[in-house]
Amino acid sequence: MCGIVGYIGEQQAYPILIKGLHRLEYRGYDSAGVSLISENGDLNVYKAKGKVVALENGCKGQDLTGTIGIAHTRWATHGEPNQVNAHPHYSESRNLALVHNGIIENYKALRTELENNGMTFCSETDTEVLVQLIEYMMKSHNCDLFEGVQLALKNVIGAYAIAILEKKNPDQLVCARKGSPLVIGVAKKSDGHVEFFLGSDATPIIEYTNQVVYLKDEQIAIMDRKGRLDIVNLSSVHQTPQLDTLQLNLDQIEKGGFPHFMLKEIWEQPNALRTCIRGRLNPTDKDVILSGVLDHQDRFLNCRRIIICACGTSWHSALIGKYFIEEACQIPVEVEYASEFRYRNPVIFPDDIVIAVSQSGETADTLAAIELAKEKGAFLYGVCNVIGSSIPRATNSGTYLHVGPEIGVASTKAFTGQVITLSMLGLAIAKVRKTLSDDMFHMLVDELYQIPDKMQWTLENNKGIDKFAERFTYCKNFLYLGRGYNYPVALEGALKLKEISYIHAEGYPAAEMKHGPIALVDEEMPVVVVAPKHGMYEKVVSNIQEIKSRGGKIISVITEGDTTVKEMSDYYFTIPDTRDCYVPLLAVIPLQLLSYYVAVTKGRNVDQPRNLAKSVTVE
Ligand code: M6R
Repeated sequence: MCGIVGYIGEQQAYPILIKGLHRLEYRGYDSAGVSLISENGDLNVYKAKGKVVALENGCKGQDLTGTIGIAHTRWATHGEPNQVNAHPHYSESRNLALVHNGIIENYKALRTELENNGMTFCSETDTEVLVQLIEYMMKSHNCDLFEGVQLALKNVIGAYAIAILEKKNPDQLVCARKGSPLVIGVAKKSDGHVEFFLGSDATPIIEYTNQVVYLKDEQIAIMDRKGRLDIVNLSSVHQTPQLDTLQLNLDQIEKGGFPHFMLKEIWEQPNALRTCIRGRLNPTDKDVILSGVLDHQDRFLNCRRIIICACGTSWHSALIGKYFIEEACQIPVEVEYASEFRYRNPVIFPDDIVIAVSQSGETADTLAAIELAKEKGAFLYGVCNVIGSSIPRATNSGTYLHVGPEIGVASTKAFTGQVITLSMLGLAIAKVRKTLSDDMFHMLVDELYQIPDKMQWTLENNKGIDKFAERFTYCKNFLYLGRGYNYPVALEGALKLKEISYIHAEGYPAAEMKHGPIALVDEEMPVVVVAPKHGMYEKVVSNIQEIKSRGGKIISVITEGDTTVKEMSDYYFTIPDTRDCYVPLLAVIPLQLLSYYVAVTKGRNVDQPRNLAKSVTVE
């Protein structure tokens, strides 16, 4: 939820840390801070409420020297977003400064204990409790920082990724994680010197090195200026650092001429999906090869049921996955909000397969849901984008989206990446279970392969949305309707509009409209209807009539060449024809663009909407 950056080496740390914070700002942006051990040995902390630029402004004229430092961009959990609650937090003696991503659940009890021992606190945060606890352990056990961290973390309940500086020891940087991600970049220079970079993900690191170590749960790492990287777990067992090579380049995390990451990511979808299907969909043999399924064929052959757990946009793609897998594989599929599932003692059989869908692979509720399913013996499958994140590591098998980093808080290419991956998964399972005829299987593979080109067509042929969106800037409510595969598209369109423009919007199955929401329809109410020439087309046409006769404004998504709905609509977007089950991959694109342009016209911060963060690593 928050972003952590760190550096130790020969370079000045401040510019590296600030650049890293800008890269991680999508994770949280209500306050930011930096700590450096200066050239004359001071442990300085500078913090500001608001975005990283506010921190930079506040730092002007300060001593920003130092070749070791940590920094943080915050999404508040405990304590309002202000300067005092911003990280880094000092320990009482100011010998330590610490940044933290996660939640210390027993922080109140720990704070009371520390206060009873005479310690005083400045902030309302759980993080300050952690740094004070480390200092308390160091003093009461007369031990060094590493041992102090180890002792403190043994008393902590909750999730953390932390990085700590010690004034008395300016040549080492210490970090640890449990439940929140932390990546260490290792850069070996030609003169033999080694420098270390820290990040909540790899985006602040890629500029300097592609060699990284993903810290694992309950590991503590010590990095020093001599190039030493020691990793030890909470039980003092030394761990061999596993060096991975990043599959990421700088272009992927920059805007590349687009005004916002969201717009860049919308336009990236055709290529992102081409990468996603590469080596998996074979257009010549009309085949699908997913190693995650092939390696566990018996599981898929004998499974009784599939449960998909997800949150937000990923829940919407999961719903489309359910429709597809049930139709293609004849297996019952349930879709669960991970946050509900984890707390209601669900019935899970050992022959169930539980699929976690998550862009970040770090969503706390989704992770907890699969941990619960693991305890009950289910087989776990991950559908995630971020390589090496917690969910892929916690599952038995899975498929990465490979759509590249998604930086905009509003999910776009991850949504379509999830839908196409779940479609490939459905086809792969159908192949194992022989539930589709060869003809049908080949036709579905063939058509899925065409989708990236049809997405490109959709983008090229809906270019006027920016002008047209202006007319809806002043609307207070929107209704989104769809049926069958397009009901989740209506949900997703409504979520996109809500989260970046702050206009209230609801997604509904079109036929449910008569059971309540139709009462909202009047001349002020735009109703977005996903109405491709498929499935229940005639019925959707009737729904449109019902809205029109009550004065509602119709914005439709129609199949190219459909004149009936076109003539009934006040505005329309066109998509090329495809199979019913693949329409969501195309129909969502104009809805993404509509929400984008409405939000831009309203002057919203599209990439960093208020109160939101890209990955929700806390409950
Ligand atoms: O990383 P995840 O896919 O697990 O995230 C789940 C939701 O927080 C996420 O999809 C959220 O709803 C989107 N940012 C909305 O656009």
